[in-house]
Amino acid sequence: MTKIITVTNQKGGVGKTTTAVNIAAALAALEFNVLLVDIDPQANATNGVGIDARQMDYTLYEVLVGDVEPNEAIVETDIKYLSVLPSHINLVGAEIELVSAIRREYKLKEAIEKVKDKYDFVIIDCPPSLGILTLNALTASSSILIPVQCEYYALEGLGQLIATLQIVKQGLNPDLTIEGLLFTMYQQQLNLSRDVVEEVKKHFGNKVFDTIIPRNVKLSEAPSHGKPIILYDIKSKGSESYLALTNEILKRNKIKHK
Ligand SMILES: Nc1ncnc2c1ncn2[C@@H]1O[C@H](COP(=O)(O)OP(=O)(O)OP(=O)(O)O)[C@@H](O)[C@H]1O
Ligand SMILES: [Mg+2]
Repeated sequence: MTKIITVTNQKGGVGKTTTAVNIAAALAALEFNVLLVDIDPQANATNGVGIDARQMDYTLYEVLVGDVEPNEAIVETDIKYLSVLPSHINLVGAEIELVSAIRREYKLKEAIEKVKDKYDFVIIDCPPSLGILTLNALTASSSILIPVQCEYYALEGLGQLIATLQIVKQGLNPDLTIEGLLFTMYQQQLNLSRDVVEEVKKHFGNKVFDTIIPRNVKLSEAPSHGKPIILYDIKSKGSESYLALTNEILKRNKIKHK
């Protein structure tokens, strides 16, 4: 069965794309067939795996508005077992065009249904909003992974995200679960980081991943080379932490290594 995980948090810059790209690449390195879906018009995840959407004939935009089939837009990356359904800035238009569409929240789900048998995992990277694009991602998914940046305002907005999750569960996707909350950009020397971790654990208990992603400069350099961290610097702390997270996800889901 294909596991579809959406990486989401309407707060900007918390590590969604870094997490989506690096989990997708780590799963592919473990020889799982992976589709990375970029539903953020910023196209950071697309660029992060070395794909330039401007060179593509079709991207997710044409798929969502029904002009092409998903397999016409999906491209293989240089990483074996990893394909991407790329984004493009014109996806901003879909946000508006879909407003009047029938079953507008189901467009991504319907597209993924057509191709999902080819993949063990589909990883979706969301924009920093709770608009129609994110709703499409939540409707299409088995679970959501929520990156939480270790900073003072981390909890702000989490309530709204959980409320949105409940609404989606009541209507669009009753089976949606929380995969886990993930601390990102952790700085051990800061009391603040430690306080944020304690506070979030109080609210979410065992939904919080044991793995914590440290602040690591290699993680911020890798995207400008169009590479996931395991290809940019596999020995870095950032790489080790995303490999650990990937193994934790497999273990929690009782999925065996290939
Ligand atoms: N653990 C980390 N250590 C250092 N830098 C990081 C780390 N995680 C992410 N970054 C950097 O922080 C910035 C924001 O990360 P990222 O793009 O993954 O966040 P995002 O939630 O996807 O942002 P947006 O809301 O704009 O989509 C990027 O420049 C990224 O390279
Ligand atoms: Mg992003």
